Amino acid sequence: MRKTIIAGNWKMNHTGKDMRETITALAQSLTASVKTEIVVAPVFPYLAEAVTLAKGTPIHIAAQNMHWLDNGAYTGEVAPAMLVDIGVTHVIIGHSERREYNNETDETVRLKVKSALDHGLTPILCCGETLEQRDAGIMQSWVEGQIEKALAGLTAEEMLHVVIAYEPIWAIGTGRTATAAQAEEVCAIIRHKIAALYDAATADAVSILYGGSVKGKNVAELTASPDIDGGLVGGASLKAPDFLEIIQNAV
Ligand code: G3H
Repeated sequence: MRKTIIAGNWKMNHTGKDMRETITALAQSLTASVKTEIVVAPVFPYLAEAVTLAKGTPIHIAAQNMHWLDNGAYTGEVAPAMLVDIGVTHVIIGHSERREYNNETDETVRLKVKSALDHGLTPILCCGETLEQRDAGIMQSWVEGQIEKALAGLTAEEMLHVVIAYEPIWAIGTGRTATAAQAEEVCAIIRHKIAALYDAATADAVSILYGGSVKGKNVAELTASPDIDGGLVGGASLKAPDFLEIIQNAV
């Protein structure tokens, strides 16, 4: 049985005060018995403090990116072992904003997914098509290609520790959520692709999230879909009441 995962990607938002207030509010409302896996991804400067605040709560702390190498002359980068060292457990990899603005490529995504696994971090691997690609009828081949390239070389055992987030770029921050049927269609395509690359049992065990204007009001329908195991939430994860509503309504 796959677990439901609700992950909040704060992107470049929240200074320290906002981060403290939001995590404290989440922690106060979440009991240890909550079945959903909850992940929050603040910006780098606050990760260590976020880990401390989340200690003893059901909240896991994620980074929004990392380098794939262990150290070296890479100004401005952060290595996976540094994240592990401060208690970070998850890392978002290949978000479409990093692919668009930070030269993230399928190859760097592949290197980062493998490196995250090697360091015991759970990679949340993002994929998704633009509206133009969808309209041109190449959504399926595009997403399958992203998945195949990102996972190249991973063993089935490693694959079990990868979380995938399908985020249609046209639905991110636009208020235009994919319908549950549209999201399910692509999440099922991704699961079939994993089955083809590995086997049905591996595909069945991998958590696939949907991201793109997820809110308290649409998360139940989305997560009730057979191949959608949770959400990667941007805007609606910034305020504790909104994020809690999503966690409560996820199924
Ligand atoms: O990582 C999160 C996604 O980009 C979704 O963002 O919920 O603001 O549309 P959004």
